[in-house]
Amino acid sequence: MVFSGQSNTALAEKICQHLNIPLGRSETQKFTNDNMIVQYSESLREGDVFIVQSLSTPVSDAIMELLLMIDAAKSASAGRVTAVIPYYSYARSDKKDAPRISIAGRLVADLIQAAGADRVLTMTLHSPQVHGFFKVPVDHLSSDVVIADHLRARVPDADQGVVLAPDAGSIKRAAAISHRLNCGLAFIDKQRVSDTAVDPRALIGDVQGKRVFIVDDEISTAGSLVEAVNFAKRMGALEVYVAVTHGVYTGPAVQRIRELDAVEVASTNTVLVPQEKVDGTDGKLSVL
Ligand code: R5P
Repeated sequence: MVFSGQSNTALAEKICQHLNIPLGRSETQKFTNDNMIVQYSESLREGDVFIVQSLSTPVSDAIMELLLMIDAAKSASAGRVTAVIPYYSYARSDKKDAPRISIAGRLVADLIQAAGADRVLTMTLHSPQVHGFFKVPVDHLSSDVVIADHLRARVPDADQGVVLAPDAGSIKRAAAISHRLNCGLAFIDKQRVSDTAVDPRALIGDVQGKRVFIVDDEISTAGSLVEAVNFAKRMGALEVYVAVTHGVYTGPAVQRIRELDAVEVASTNTVLVPQEKVDGTDGKLSVL
């Protein structure tokens, strides 16, 4: 039985079409005081229940709705509950890298388990080791195949290009995709200055006269992306293509992508991208 929170119903519907089963019926409402209530409209007794919910904006509402759905399913005697979280946003808070802060990625994992999830299924965590925050089994899926297939389809001689990791944290993922494309690999030594600004310091590798494929786990404000594309162009890249797993596109992202010196920016459908955002980039942005 597949049910959906409100963050990405389109994805849940696609999953059900693929499985040839109907999407389960449930209702979420908000009271005037902002409290939320979730109610299933069918019996879950002994059912193998999958709840699809990406932790995309508004993230706190998405988390609360997921917790209520898990708890309600357990209270309704579901046999097994799997939290399907295509985009786990708090994976970016994976360590205590400043004094007196919470490791929120672990806290949210604790909450999901406390609500009663028996399993978790997720995709391309910012840091793969975040799956260790969960004590229940986690299936950590990768979007590498989808991204490599897309780039190969867009650029027939992709094997002559270079996959560029926009920071050291994304080198392993970039290397896996470059192996699939059988092409070169480069990376940028990047320093994050603030939530919206980054400082690229050096590009290690050769992009001169080549088609460059920038791959990353997510685009949020597109600050990292702008710097990476501009750096690649300054170093002589012929054309730049961008492909990421999670297209979050917050704040100035749409305007930045519209003005970006790249052929296209593609992301998978783990996060629902509203049509007005796609339109706002003059067609540069696409959802795989
Ligand atoms: C950073 O370490 C991540 O891999 C992404 O590059 C980052 O989260 C993107 O954020 P933004 O688009 O706001 O620069």
